[in-house]
Amino acid sequence: MANEQTAATTAAEAGALDTPIDELRVADDDYWQDGAPYELFKRLRSECPVHWSDSIQQYPDEDGFWSVTTADDVHTVSRDWRTYSSGYGITALTHSILPLELQQAMFIGMDPPKHDRLKALFQRGFTPKRIADHEEAIRAITIDVLDGLGDRETCDLVTDVAQPVVSRVIHSFMGVPAEDDADWARLMNSILAANDPDLNPGGPEQIMERDIPEIFERCNELITDRRENPTDDLTSVLVHAEIDGERLEDHEIVMGFFLLVAAGNDSTKATYCSGMRALLENPDQKQMLVDDPALVPDAVEEALRMYPAFAHFRRTATEDTELGGQAIREGEKVVMWYVSSNRDETRYEDADTFDLTRRAEHQAFGAGGRHFCLGTALARLELRILIEETLKRYPGIALDGRPQAAATQFVNQLKSLPVRLRP
Ligand code: HEM
Repeated sequence: MANEQTAATTAAEAGALDTPIDELRVADDDYWQDGAPYELFKRLRSECPVHWSDSIQQYPDEDGFWSVTTADDVHTVSRDWRTYSSGYGITALTHSILPLELQQAMFIGMDPPKHDRLKALFQRGFTPKRIADHEEAIRAITIDVLDGLGDRETCDLVTDVAQPVVSRVIHSFMGVPAEDDADWARLMNSILAANDPDLNPGGPEQIMERDIPEIFERCNELITDRRENPTDDLTSVLVHAEIDGERLEDHEIVMGFFLLVAAGNDSTKATYCSGMRALLENPDQKQMLVDDPALVPDAVEEALRMYPAFAHFRRTATEDTELGGQAIREGEKVVMWYVSSNRDETRYEDADTFDLTRRAEHQAFGAGGRHFCLGTALARLELRILIEETLKRYPGIALDGRPQAAATQFVNQLKSLPVRLRP
């Protein structure tokens, strides 16, 4: 059951395997051209599980950072928000793509108590029970998109199936009209995969110049409308939210909206596509699901483990501390690499093998703590329905060309997954 993507070692990655460990800079673009550098992380886990990168090749004015690579250490960081704050930037970059003040306006970029109060506004709507009420609607969206493929023999699962389904689902929660789905998806893709020339042809510079103003403009229209005509969508929740008797600032509403749309758009798409790829490359696993669709939830969990949609999230040390034998100083960035911790060999046997009978816990949704993913129930439901409906309609689906990974250190995703729908 070897998996080509994970077994492959790119040329750049091979360089990473020879470079002295102290000189390695984990977030350098060179290592990420073909997706996450799993072999590099394997080396870090064995030689230097908490590792310092001096800088980031493509962003020379960003500070260096600690890489946390084992499941136990990621767990420690994730649970201790007092020592490891979310309030100073949430990715390895502090300001180069999204200015710090915009990150701090989302509750993912806040610490308690404000974080907890804002998150609580949404939690009621995201419980497994409330989300289960949407099953019929999500299935209808999925079937509608698959119907749209008509008699086609081939398609790209990323752009023809995953993107339209996940966009419609999250946008229906937010109250975004269907005709705007593609525009929002484009904005999210370019910001979340800022370094990939296909997903963000204008390069990172255009994000502040073009994309952020467009997001604010589009969002302000929605906000104005919901102020006058409240509905039961999540945009209305943000617009009318009160924290300690005070309404949110406009930029906090826009960024709250951005957080939900971004999290909902790219992550589920990424996991569905990586999971489908694993099934297509491991036909015995796919056949198990075709024969027994009740196993789909197990395949979903294994896809989440092997291909966590977010390669990392970051914290910042609020005091001098120690982790994995390394002295971490106040103010230093601490990056939790889920693409590494989910393959930690002390937790998983044959960690690079896709095995849907594994039924193992993982950290794709975070490792517990205050920022644990709000959307787990929604993501799991969407993923189950997407895989069920795809395999039900196309049991003989097969790869039809080389899948292409996006070049990004943040959302661990494919940008192309060409398939032949019928044998
Ligand atoms: C496969 C799908 C998904 C994955 C792998 C995923 C993963 C994650 C991870 C790792 C975090 C934690 C970040 C941290 O510890 O700093 C997170 C947070 C979050 N996710 Fe998800 N997510 C997924 C889908 C969704 C969906 C569909 C939504 C829908 C709204 C969502 C909303 C959120 C929000 C709002 C947060 C911030 C929570 C907080 O700061 O307290 N996610 N997600």
